[in-house]
Amino acid sequence: MMEETGDAAVAVAVQGLSKAYGGKKVVDDVSFTVHEGEFFGLLGPNGAGKTTTLEMIEGLRRSDSGSVSLLGSSPWPRNTALLTRIGVQLQSSAFFERLTAREQLSTFGALYGAGVGRTDELLALVGLTDHAGVREDKLSGGQRQRLSIACALVHDPEVLFLDEPTASLDPQARRNLWDVLRGIKEQGKTIVYTTHYIEEAERLCDRIAILDGGRVIAMDTPSELVSALGRPTSMELPVSVIGPDDVRGLPGVEEVTEEDGRVRFSAADPGPLMRALTERGIAGSLQIRAASLEDVFLELTGREYRS
Ligand SMILES: Nc1ncnc2c1ncn2[C@@H]1O[C@H](COP(=O)(O)OP(=O)(O)O)[C@@H](O)[C@H]1O
Ligand SMILES: [Mg+2]
Repeated sequence: MMEETGDAAVAVAVQGLSKAYGGKKVVDDVSFTVHEGEFFGLLGPNGAGKTTTLEMIEGLRRSDSGSVSLLGSSPWPRNTALLTRIGVQLQSSAFFERLTAREQLSTFGALYGAGVGRTDELLALVGLTDHAGVREDKLSGGQRQRLSIACALVHDPEVLFLDEPTASLDPQARRNLWDVLRGIKEQGKTIVYTTHYIEEAERLCDRIAILDGGRVIAMDTPSELVSALGRPTSMELPVSVIGPDDVRGLPGVEEVTEEDGRVRFSAADPGPLMRALTERGIAGSLQIRAASLEDVFLELTGREYRS
């Protein structure tokens, strides 16, 4: 355990980390801190430098410059004392062939000297108790992903690293995995994970670093990132319900435009507006679109987010 210093102890501290390939910086002066127990996300489109950053923290790639402190130690040159304290999600190819989910876990457990009860505990944690006897190659994509996360947790590590665990899963399997990740966080683990799904990062992470072109372009809690934009809430009503001129007469309404049969507008203080709409009996037709992380990306980069 690390020493507490007022705030939660630091699990990962990255300072000025850079890496170039063929003269091109793919990770460019990246700095951030992850506290113990935090769910921290590296969010960015493909090629942003997420995997390179993660692997330098894990001690799998060497940085050109900058420093990483992982649980108080440097992960490079390879630090075997750290390996028992961190979990790195294995790719599916790292499964043993022809073993069931339970056998995979108990085999990994035996390698790490985990207790016998650990396998059942992990099967329950990742929601695979009912599939314990199913061979790994017969599991669905989402189930395999959950099994590989369980394998990374066999030795009860303090910090768990996951690289795009939800990529290529269907929406239902992604949601199941979110529940699993939340359960792991509830056990007090620190989670550092990457994703290119904006909405997912917004829902799961305590804090997010948005990476683009190897640089951290924003970092904060999801709600702070969005509220720092200072955008008024945007709303719309069908023209068939109320015309643009009438909308302009409503309290607190700004920036009224009409497009595709809908009146779009914003209101800095929606309270009086909602009362006026309710009095007219049209509040039920109102659609509200709050600013999102996608708007943050657009604002900071001037271009749309393409995962
Ligand atoms: N081993 C490598 N050799 C050359 N270029 C690499 C290597 N690894 C990554 N890159 C390049 O670095 C950039 C960032 O890659 P990566 O960290 O994998 O991004 P992400 O995980 O965000 O998709 C990409 O342009 C990629 O092509
Ligand atoms: Mg990647």
